[in-house]
Amino acid sequence: MFKTLYVRDAFQCEEGLEVELIGWIRSKRRHGKLIFLDLRDSTGIIQVAVKHGVADNESFMKALDIGLESSVKVKGRLKKDPRAPGGLELHCNHLEIVGPSLEDFPIKKGVGLKFLLDNRHLHLRSPRVAIIMKIRATLMDIARRWLRENGFVEVNCPTFITAAVEGGATLFKVDYFGKPAYLTQSVQFYQEAAIYSLEKVYSLQPSFRAELSRTRRHLTEFWHLEVEMAYADLYDIMKVIEELVYAIVNGLNKESEREIRTLGRELRPEMAEPPYPRIRYSEALQILQSKGVNINWGDDFGADEERILSKEFSKPFFVTHYPKEAKAFYHMPDPSNPSVCLNADLLAPGGYGEIVGGGQRIHDYNLLTERIRENNLNPEEYRWYLDLRKYGSVPHSGFGLGIERMLWWLLHLPHIRSACLFPRTPARVYP
Ligand code: 4AD
Ligand code: MG
Repeated sequence: MFKTLYVRDAFQCEEGLEVELIGWIRSKRRHGKLIFLDLRDSTGIIQVAVKHGVADNESFMKALDIGLESSVKVKGRLKKDPRAPGGLELHCNHLEIVGPSLEDFPIKKGVGLKFLLDNRHLHLRSPRVAIIMKIRATLMDIARRWLRENGFVEVNCPTFITAAVEGGATLFKVDYFGKPAYLTQSVQFYQEAAIYSLEKVYSLQPSFRAELSRTRRHLTEFWHLEVEMAYADLYDIMKVIEELVYAIVNGLNKESEREIRTLGRELRPEMAEPPYPRIRYSEALQILQSKGVNINWGDDFGADEERILSKEFSKPFFVTHYPKEAKAFYHMPDPSNPSVCLNADLLAPGGYGEIVGGGQRIHDYNLLTERIRENNLNPEEYRWYLDLRKYGSVPHSGFGLGIERMLWWLLHLPHIRSACLFPRTPARVYP
């Protein structure tokens, strides 16, 4: 009786067991009457030995001819062999081809990066990509669990919007039955509406930015974990950010340790243990100026500044109290110095830079109207958002965390697009 197993489970079985494995052929080597096939499934890779005489003649001929990445069912016996990767191989009795490769599989050693991206739909079969996607799924799961356990309710917000959250320059315009609409940059304003009934909310969904910045950390579509909380000030929300980031790092270290090690990385939860250093924008500016960066009060930090600044830290750290002109209109001005706002960016150490942006929101109707005007925006376009301040407004704060930024930092990926199944960048909407 043959048992159909996942590859990973085969490695837990007794030698001699007759099994059936289902997967794809990753590589093939021939030594005369013996053909070695590497069989890959979602759980691992095992070497299959197809020996003439042990396998029936028809199966041997199929193995001889088989194209890489064909899908197969293989029946045989598990045999220990110290020469095989993992110390175990499958001695094939019978090979059945489920779906042959009709042409030579195009992804080969040595092909260039552009080719891999143009063929991302096939490159996804690489075990490295699969591991990153598993870690990504675990990261999102850990974050959701932590938020739920801490009383946050998941809400799902619209993707079509009519007014900018993070400035008009990065809006993607779409034709909405003859009227202009945009793709969301952040669901923050919808979450702000939701706190009046749910108090603590979060969303996990894509955000879009028409950002032409071709850096290693910018996507035009990214997954955004956003949190909003009623009756929370800047310092309350910074605590939530710290605890959530720590929960993610600690959780991944436990739940994805094996995968992370396969990528040659190690997560040390101590490196993300709260409290995180907190510096003000003015101090960050001094550090940058002392390093010869040509930057003036009021300028926002870009990728280059954040890289230089974050190399000075070995733990994630907050930069707070940015000049109000460097941030969106909704940020609460600091009552003791209204030229800066009660905001906090969390920067990852070692050159990675911003992974979280957030802070306290203006909850006063008149002040918010004034800030909208000062930013040369039309209060009429923000009517419903202003309405929220008319009826029982309360102090509140929130933040957004970029899922791909987080993975880029934690896994030390060469580029943020490695964190996506199908990355979207200024130069790429295909495949
Ligand atoms: O700092 P941002 O623009 O903040 C907001 O959108 C707030 N409205 C969020 C909120 O308070 N609810 O974006 C938040 C995070 C950044 O820190 C970064 O991690 C990620 O979103 N992000 C991007 N990730 C990849 N590519 C881009 N182009 C990104 N832009 C922002
Ligand atoms: Mg930001």
